[in-house]
Amino acid sequence: MSQTFQNIKGTFDILPDPYTDDGGTRIAPSAEWRYVEATVRDVMARYNFDEIRTPILEPTALVARGVGEATDIVQKEMFAFERSDTQYVLRPEITAPVVRSYLQHHLDQRGGVQKLFYIGPCFRAEQPQKGRYRQFHQFGVEVLGTDDARADAETVAVMMAIYDELGIKDTRLRMNTLGTPDRREEYVHALREYLEPYADELSETSRRRLKRNPLRVLDTKLDHEQAILQDAPQLIDYVSDESRAHYDRVQRFLADLGVSYVEDPHLVRGLDYYTETTFELESPDLGAQSALAGGGRYDRLAEVLGSEEPVPAIGFAAGMERLFLALDAAEAERPGLPAPDVFIAALGEEAEQWVFRTTQELRAAGLHVALDLKGRSLKAQMREANRQEADYTLIIGGNELEAEEATVKEMESGEQEDVPFAELSTVLLDKCRTEHE
Ligand code: HAM
Repeated sequence: MSQTFQNIKGTFDILPDPYTDDGGTRIAPSAEWRYVEATVRDVMARYNFDEIRTPILEPTALVARGVGEATDIVQKEMFAFERSDTQYVLRPEITAPVVRSYLQHHLDQRGGVQKLFYIGPCFRAEQPQKGRYRQFHQFGVEVLGTDDARADAETVAVMMAIYDELGIKDTRLRMNTLGTPDRREEYVHALREYLEPYADELSETSRRRLKRNPLRVLDTKLDHEQAILQDAPQLIDYVSDESRAHYDRVQRFLADLGVSYVEDPHLVRGLDYYTETTFELESPDLGAQSALAGGGRYDRLAEVLGSEEPVPAIGFAAGMERLFLALDAAEAERPGLPAPDVFIAALGEEAEQWVFRTTQELRAAGLHVALDLKGRSLKAQMREANRQEADYTLIIGGNELEAEEATVKEMESGEQEDVPFAELSTVLLDKCRTEHE
């Protein structure tokens, strides 16, 4: 047998029809992806965000420096390779690339605050499981050039608005402040001192984190570790008065916008660039991979990436695959698969020629038209029209050509109407427009 190929583990195809993957997850059809993307674009436009598209390939050093050497992403999840002495990485996230682009193109010179959104694939070499892929898709925003607390509140609000618009209501927003790096360093020192006596009781992961990145120990999902952390020093007691005041303002603005959340002093996030406000949106329907979206401020990232000026900024990113899991759980409404307005069946060679030509004219007039491209029997053509769920069908044979008139059949009601060829596009457009209204 000749060799066929499978997609790479942790990736998936998006097909015209929905299907279930090996792990039992429903993979949404392309029409649903278009619908979600269109909703994202629509909400982004209402919140006055402009789109940015950056390459999938980035310099490895950008990610290493931007996301942070000690993070899981950089330590073990990058798809990185070398070619002709250049180090490439498939972007694992889009914040560092957006900041790179902002600095490279001097986007600050556009004036005001830069409010950018993106939708696109990211790559992380994680162990694939439900809601966790090696190629996944994010949408998100980055608001660059302001440290105003309203930017924080607006970033959270636009994220919430998208889930709301899509009918995903069963979510939990967690908020925290990480303060500034200098104060955080003091806190990390205190946390390490507190945790070290418990080192033997910690899991291997937490022990590793205690050495390299103690804040991440706070992330633990293990009960006995959470019990140990009960009496640990709290980050909020270490942050400066300014950080606290900023966080208070963010909370007031969120209250103004009617956004509810819970404060979680243990929310630290997995990327190194965060400062001040951080947040994560969870869904109870996702199991172990409960984060729908996350984000926060990263007021120092631009400088880490070489900027001489600070560029205070905040953003969030959301996983599309997890959004679909939540959509499924919410049984939220979605558009059906796109169906043709008209299917034109042809009987005989002369009719085939006429149909082929007329299809082009009807399409130019704006109709979604399907026809047979295989010379199949009339019966097979009608089966195809049914399978594709066309709204109307036409059967063209010798009689129709002679009379220059076609019978237009509405598939659902079975109603028929004779329409002269000359009026075909006007009548069909009229019928289909009414149908879509
Ligand atoms: P993140 O928390 O690493 O943050 O990723 C954001 C979201 O992407 C997650 O909440 C999750 O829904 C989704 N995600 C991450 N990894 C995977 C995966 N392997 N499979 C499926 N979905 C995944 C960031 O990426 C930051 N850049 C967010 C941000 C923007 N912070 C400020 N601005």
